[in-house]
Amino acid sequence: MSTPLPTPRDFPMRRGCPFVAPEEYAALRTEDPVARVTLPTKREAWVVSRYDDVRELLSDPRVSADITRPNFPALGEGEQEAGARFRPFIRTDAPEHTRYRRMLLPVFTVRRVRAMRPAVQARVDEILDAMLAGGGPTDFVAAYANAVSTSVICELLGVPRENLEFFRDVTRISGSRHSTAAQVSEALGGLFGLLAELVAQRRDEPRDDLISKLVTEQLVPGHVTTEQLLSTLGITINAGRETTTSMIALSTLLLLDRPDLREELRRDPSLMPAAVDELLRVLSVADSIPLRVAAEDIELSGRTVPAHDGVIALLAGANHDPEQFDHPERVDFRRTDNHHVAFGFGVHQCVGQHLARLELEIALETLLRRVPTLRLAGERDEVVVKHDSATFGLEELRVTW
Ligand code: HEM
Repeated sequence: MSTPLPTPRDFPMRRGCPFVAPEEYAALRTEDPVARVTLPTKREAWVVSRYDDVRELLSDPRVSADITRPNFPALGEGEQEAGARFRPFIRTDAPEHTRYRRMLLPVFTVRRVRAMRPAVQARVDEILDAMLAGGGPTDFVAAYANAVSTSVICELLGVPRENLEFFRDVTRISGSRHSTAAQVSEALGGLFGLLAELVAQRRDEPRDDLISKLVTEQLVPGHVTTEQLLSTLGITINAGRETTTSMIALSTLLLLDRPDLREELRRDPSLMPAAVDELLRVLSVADSIPLRVAAEDIELSGRTVPAHDGVIALLAGANHDPEQFDHPERVDFRRTDNHHVAFGFGVHQCVGQHLARLELEIALETLLRRVPTLRLAGERDEVVVKHDSATFGLEELRVTW
């Protein structure tokens, strides 16, 4: 006689404090490390919450990231259907996935990203000048966090960045668990329309940007179709800007809450790279981005994820696992061996992680140095948290200085 399946819990679980993983994760790790859940789409799936299990799962060749599989555990109907239609390479498997990833990797190496530092610094200074000139109170998410992340990715790709809110809306709709397939398709259709025009332009007149490079090296020789190129550019913009916006906004809120940490960074700016990694670990904004399907039965912590079931690797669960991190809730910029999984793990590990680190370092350092009087405008509980989006973050953060 087979053992009855446990009653599924509802997923996603909410964070009480924005800087801590949802409270339930601690109980999941100790009592139910491979837990059955019901998703907002009413489908069932499994969530894995221990550090070792998350890394094992994400590096297991028997798991698939193919969004067209029937039990793929997307958190919204819109994501599931639009993903199956547009096939972003983050939601595909080898050999297709490897081909697109290889197209992007050379652009995001440590060396290439290091060379972007002066340009990113100049852009951040310009955005901060504009924010300060506009006067406070202002919404920090729109005026700084979104402006920085969107400008940097647009400049790299060669997309005009006149309309920063347009890109924010595209991700807001495509990443929301409440969006319908039609809404997601319309938002992505708008983005692909803009990108298609740019691809056509760069075919005629290549420039020194990523779109031109991919058009010349991949599209013109026939290695990819226009549709595949648009999907790759689209996912790079979407994946690159929402996550980085959230990290800049949440890190700033955390530093506003913690004058001691602010002071530590001001006294010793060389701590900034380690501080960025610690903030990535603590905040784990991409907590439930790694969505997979087990292609075969997979055993973790003595439990089995049955073949063909959906499974989600909880990055915040792993990054707050006390078996791996001493006092995981403590924000410690001097933490050693901080092998967090905020950028995922395995073959889909974030392509843009070096760029993300550079952006965060420059955005936070510049802010602390140039606006030491930055403070919340209004009450702490007026900060608007985004609970229903693929990436955890802030919708609005009113600040003044
Ligand atoms: C703090 C900022 C960021 C965080 C926390 C983050 C997090 C992640 C995570 C967790 C994954 C793996 C998803 C999975 O396993 O299914 C991922 C993949 C990806 N990220 Fe990021 N990311 C960030 C910034 C960026 C930036 C700046 C870019 C591009 C410029 C970018 C581009 C991508 C792409 C293209 C993938 C897909 C990789 C693949 O499937 O092989 N990300 N990211």
